[in-house]
Amino acid sequence: MSRSVRIRVPGTSANLGPGFDSLGCAFSVYNYLTFCEAEKTEIEGCPPEFSGEDNLALVAFRAAEKRAGRPACHVKIQVQTHVPSAGGLGSSATLLAGGAMGANALLGLGLDRKTLLDLVTELEGHPDNAAPALYGGLTASMMDNGHPVTVSLPLHESYRFCAFIPDFHTDTRAARRVLPKSVPHRDAVYNVSHALLLGAAFASGDTELLTLALHDRLHEPYRRSLIEGYDAVEEAALSRGAHAFFLSGSGSTLMAVYTDPEFPERVLPQISAMPHRWTVLPLLPDRDGACVL
Ligand code: HSE
Repeated sequence: MSRSVRIRVPGTSANLGPGFDSLGCAFSVYNYLTFCEAEKTEIEGCPPEFSGEDNLALVAFRAAEKRAGRPACHVKIQVQTHVPSAGGLGSSATLLAGGAMGANALLGLGLDRKTLLDLVTELEGHPDNAAPALYGGLTASMMDNGHPVTVSLPLHESYRFCAFIPDFHTDTRAARRVLPKSVPHRDAVYNVSHALLLGAAFASGDTELLTLALHDRLHEPYRRSLIEGYDAVEEAALSRGAHAFFLSGSGSTLMAVYTDPEFPERVLPQISAMPHRWTVLPLLPDRDGACVL
């Protein structure tokens, strides 16, 4: 019988306000990828236009083979997605992390998690989704000579997250093009100080500090106008008990941090009445990251 492995990878949110390209968190929504030895390479569960050699899971599978010095082998990949695609919940990183981990497990490549992160970051371009997808929880990352350095940060158990997902997507490349090439020095200081105190607020469960610290001047002000309804969803969330609100990755998903379990029910009627059929998706942090099931 041919060998197979099944990988589970959490969706993620990147930036978390002031941590542009560095902070990320994994959540309890998952994509599943199964990798089987096969006579020919094929991909199931993706639309035909995404089932070729440029499929992200296959690209990462090939990159892991190459990193381990192995020739490309035939593989059948079955993809089961629950993470909304192109919505700011790290769906690309789930496929890349799943592909790299799938190759590692199926072929016994012996690559450690740090090497998988290096590989996925190179393919994705930045580590903020890749790191929590592989490590789980809240992660902070920086790039050093082209390689990611990541630490897991404490996240107080009282925090819950709620994703607001509209019926339209934003293109990450377009959302990066709207960012300025340079920013005023005071905005850089604003973000450094807010990101540092945000780390403390996430660790301690101090919701007042979280409310003060979770603000950004490096990307959200430039991207707000790409998300129709941003102001209205933010106002609805903050006036109904969310402690903080941010743009998830480059959007189009928006995200609230809350502690009262009744928050999603309280905010739902107003959000559902808005244009763009917003989905309200309560999420808990995922603590495991990508794993072989
Ligand atoms: N840090 C990235 C950005 C995340 O905001 O552009 C999206 O991939």
